[in-house]
Amino acid sequence: MLYICLCTYSFATIFTESKQQRDMNSLQKSTEYSWKIFGGFHRALILTINWNIVLHCIYSGMGLDADFEAYAKKHLPKTTWDFFAAGADECCTRDGNLLAYRRIHFRPRILRGMSVIDTRTMLLGTEISFPVGIAPTGFHRLAWPDGEKSTARAAEAMKTCYITSTYSTCTVEEIAAAAPNGFRWFQLYIHRNRALSEGLVRRVEAAGFQGLVLTADLPYPGKRRDDIRNSFQLPPHMTVKNFEGEESCTEYGLPPNSIDPSVNWNDIYWLQSLTRLPIIVKGILTKEDADLAVRHGVQGIIVSNHGGRQLDGGPATIDALIEIVDAVQDRAEVYLDGGIRTGSDVLKALALGAKCVFLGRPALWGLTYKGEEGLREVLQILHDEFRLSMALAGKIFLLFD
Ligand code: FNR
Repeated sequence: MLYICLCTYSFATIFTESKQQRDMNSLQKSTEYSWKIFGGFHRALILTINWNIVLHCIYSGMGLDADFEAYAKKHLPKTTWDFFAAGADECCTRDGNLLAYRRIHFRPRILRGMSVIDTRTMLLGTEISFPVGIAPTGFHRLAWPDGEKSTARAAEAMKTCYITSTYSTCTVEEIAAAAPNGFRWFQLYIHRNRALSEGLVRRVEAAGFQGLVLTADLPYPGKRRDDIRNSFQLPPHMTVKNFEGEESCTEYGLPPNSIDPSVNWNDIYWLQSLTRLPIIVKGILTKEDADLAVRHGVQGIIVSNHGGRQLDGGPATIDALIEIVDAVQDRAEVYLDGGIRTGSDVLKALALGAKCVFLGRPALWGLTYKGEEGLREVLQILHDEFRLSMALAGKIFLLFD
């Protein structure tokens, strides 16, 4: 059993470096400022409101997998449910992502005065309300008619980051217009037709996206048995909107054999020549690749195994995180996705050095339940669970204590 000394000690050491100090100072200033303006009464009011939400969620007893996943499984067409749930081969890595959290234990601290808890943090200089964003997943119109527009609105309402997939069923311009004040990054698969990818990067930058996430673990799609058995395809009325009119689309509604398997580290330089957006590499699982990413000048790393949909038999992401954080040493921000289902999962990932985590399937379950509203509910529940976990573990701030 792996026992890890989490919480107070780890957090204290995580946030001592200079960049975080800068983040901390700016947030601290804004906090002090708002305290001065609003005074004690409003502060008490805000806390009361927040705790009412926490209590609502605790007493309603809603959980992401027990409720939203079950709802999605019951209501989606089987082929869509299978596509969302799929893992590669025998799904060992997909399932391992979740199981790994059960082996990790807190070392909670008590009597630390938990009446004020602040879940805010910064992603590459932008403040978000809590350290949970939305991972890129394709084809949101399979879950809800409005698709990615609803996702963008929910993320904007919850003040967090939404990473839009290359394979969205709305265009990047439609998504940006749906939530004009939202904080968004764009996830890129580099295509054999480089002009297509280049054009997309330029459109994304023009549409106000604030980061470019290169997914690096998919030279070829993993073998997802259910999708093959089901001959999974997008329904005829749905398209990968960013490519509409570009090429003939076949399997998955995508240009056939379109992802470029020759992509390598030099392509980071190619992307840097196309855009001034910060670049984040998604799909890193080893310290060696983390070090290469930093040496190629990326600003962020997402520790990810694609939700277990690519190489089956790789590590759970929470297990891979430790060596990567150690290797990166604050030269870039490190994030994680895969298997996050509760607020305590989020706290474990943060205590082990992630700056933020991202949700894949749970976001799709929320969308399936009630579009924007359903996804907001998923995020709110996770926010409240996370806040409660902080309180029970003795963690007051993410950025300054
Ligand atoms: C994905 N993922 C993914 N990743 C990516 O970079 N581009 C994409 O278009 C997609 N599409 C996609 C579709 C579906 C249905 C799933 C489930 C996943 C992977 C995703 O970004 C993320 O890495 C995992 O989903 C995280 O694991 P959890 O949260 O689903 O356990």
